[in-house]
Amino acid sequence: MRLEGKVAFITGAGGGMGREAALRFAAEGAKVIANDIRVDTVEETVEMIRRAGGDAIAVLGDVATAEDVKRAIEVGERKFGKINVLYNNAGVMPAEDGSVLDMDEVVWDRVFAVNVKGLALCCKYGIPALLRAGGGSVINIASFVALVGCTVPQDAYTASKGAVLALTRSLAVQFGPKGVRVNDISPGPVLTPLLEKLFTDPEKRAVRLRRIPLGRFGKPADIVNAAVFLASDESSWINGANLVIDGGITVYYF
Ligand SMILES: NC(=O)c1ccc[n+]([C@@H]2O[C@H](COP(=O)([O-])OP(=O)(O)OC[C@H]3O[C@@H](n4cnc5c(N)ncnc54)[C@H](O)[C@@H]3O)[C@@H](O)[C@H]2O)c1
Repeated sequence: MRLEGKVAFITGAGGGMGREAALRFAAEGAKVIANDIRVDTVEETVEMIRRAGGDAIAVLGDVATAEDVKRAIEVGERKFGKINVLYNNAGVMPAEDGSVLDMDEVVWDRVFAVNVKGLALCCKYGIPALLRAGGGSVINIASFVALVGCTVPQDAYTASKGAVLALTRSLAVQFGPKGVRVNDISPGPVLTPLLEKLFTDPEKRAVRLRRIPLGRFGKPADIVNAAVFLASDESSWINGANLVIDGGITVYYF
């Protein structure tokens, strides 16, 4: 098992790629601290892990709220004695997010509150826990949309994920010398509830699929396979990297 002996804190573990990561990390031997803003789904994730013979606890909370994050880290660290992996996966992509010209400030602020401030708060409280454990791995989930322009814009989301990439580089330089590696994964379009919500418009689905050289959308496991690698000691000399896992969508010219 590739994550034996490790403890992983995973945000947004109640659904989509976060749940997939929680289940897989546990199957690879990690103890999982599963966070989500939704109590029913995160408890279900923990139940699934326990039924499969793994060890996990649910820590409810909104990553955009400092007290929630602080408490979640404290509860998780106390339960398992340490945290080795901080997997910042929680993110939102509201359907109302379009061009900056049509900006709804409430939508913009919530996207930044969760995707940027939320991730930063998890680092604020999580990285000290990794340092107390003697080092560890931070995995930040960005997106391919931070790397290329798009004719079907989601400008708040795109800008928020660009901020994630920039913050990752800064943290990698600050904490690498102390044994904490910080890397991104930039997924392409992966079929999860988040993307399905956007695909109420069939053209939004078609325009993306046409651009994926591998001819299919991603599956949560396509992303989580890389996350297991970044969480494990197999990646012990990888720091400040951005793994683009997107079926080739960002290198498609014609
Ligand atoms: N699905 C894609 O195509 C895609 C592509 C690139 C990047 N991403 C990113 O991957 C990550 C996971 O996306 P997904 O597709 O699995 O999404 P999802 O919507 O299926 O799942 C996200 C989970 O995060 C939880 N969550 C939302 N806001 C939260 C908050 N404030 N605090 C705690 N938990 C919260 C939700 O309840 C949900 O369980 C996100 O950061 C997303 O931006 C997704």
